[in-house]
Amino acid sequence: MSDISANQPPFRHLLGIEGLSAPDITEILDLSDEYVAQNRQVDKKRSILGGRTQINLFFETSTRTRTSFELAGKRLGADVINMTATASAIKKGETLIDTAATLNAMHPDTLVVRHPHSGAVALLSQKMDCSVINAGDGSHEHPTQALLDALTIRRRLGHLHGLTVAICGDILHSRVARSNIMLLNIMGAHVRAIAPPTLLPGQMDRMGVDVYHNMEKGLRDVDIVMMLRLQNERMNGAYVPSTREYYHFFGLDQAKLSKAKPEALIMHPGPMNRGVEIDSELADDINRSVIREQVEMGVAVRMAVLDLLSRRPSNLPPIGPSGGPDGGAS
Ligand code: CP
Repeated sequence: MSDISANQPPFRHLLGIEGLSAPDITEILDLSDEYVAQNRQVDKKRSILGGRTQINLFFETSTRTRTSFELAGKRLGADVINMTATASAIKKGETLIDTAATLNAMHPDTLVVRHPHSGAVALLSQKMDCSVINAGDGSHEHPTQALLDALTIRRRLGHLHGLTVAICGDILHSRVARSNIMLLNIMGAHVRAIAPPTLLPGQMDRMGVDVYHNMEKGLRDVDIVMMLRLQNERMNGAYVPSTREYYHFFGLDQAKLSKAKPEALIMHPGPMNRGVEIDSELADDINRSVIREQVEMGVAVRMAVLDLLSRRPSNLPPIGPSGGPDGGAS
């Protein structure tokens, strides 16, 4: 089976947005809505994952994704274990594959993985009997981020179809951008990519986006302004002359935002670099910014994904998905 079939219902893994259909995404968002309501109650806990074991294995730093996956698992009644590369035998030279085989021998039900290399999570999923969720692999995909972004937009504006969404900044290194572009296209939104040429991947037109190198032009009449961080940790060398110049041309400020629709929403996956890609006051503007709401939606979306994966038949055969765009793995 291909990696796409691994990603299709009955869901065995969630390795990316690629391979999901509009009904699949709608099913996840509809269930997420139910979990948003549950999370706003005093009693947030259910037992549908009682007896199940979830391992969160993070080879890169994370605040939002790791914490929300932990909360999501615990609110559904699972036993949740957190592992980081620095606190594991990987520090002693154990390979990714050996780490996977070791964890697999402990019979977890779900493995949530973040890794700096594109394709590493898909590779690891081939060695596991349990469900694997991609919590971000290199510059490849971050599917639950795109799902929580979609949920945030849908709850604010009622739909995704027909909206114009501008994704601005370091698109070249952004797994968030890739997953969002795919999801928004699947759901019938129009996507604009706004960035300097140095921060755009080649063949953007093949990804179904309109490319702009000028914020004022690209933001004209958009419904959503999605800002991205400069991913310095994935850069070899200088991609922008200076952060000051970058902010001048590509940082979101009031003047540039005024080109968007008057009610346009500001989004950012976090972590933010205030004064680099976004003006600090705009980031906190309760009338325009939905950045905190995105974080709230993250818990609900991850609960929905864990719930749906737990419903898969237990006799599904192991599936071997292919790697990400660079086919790489550590
Ligand atoms: N958006 C996101 O993935 O944030 P973290 O790196 O904090 O998980």
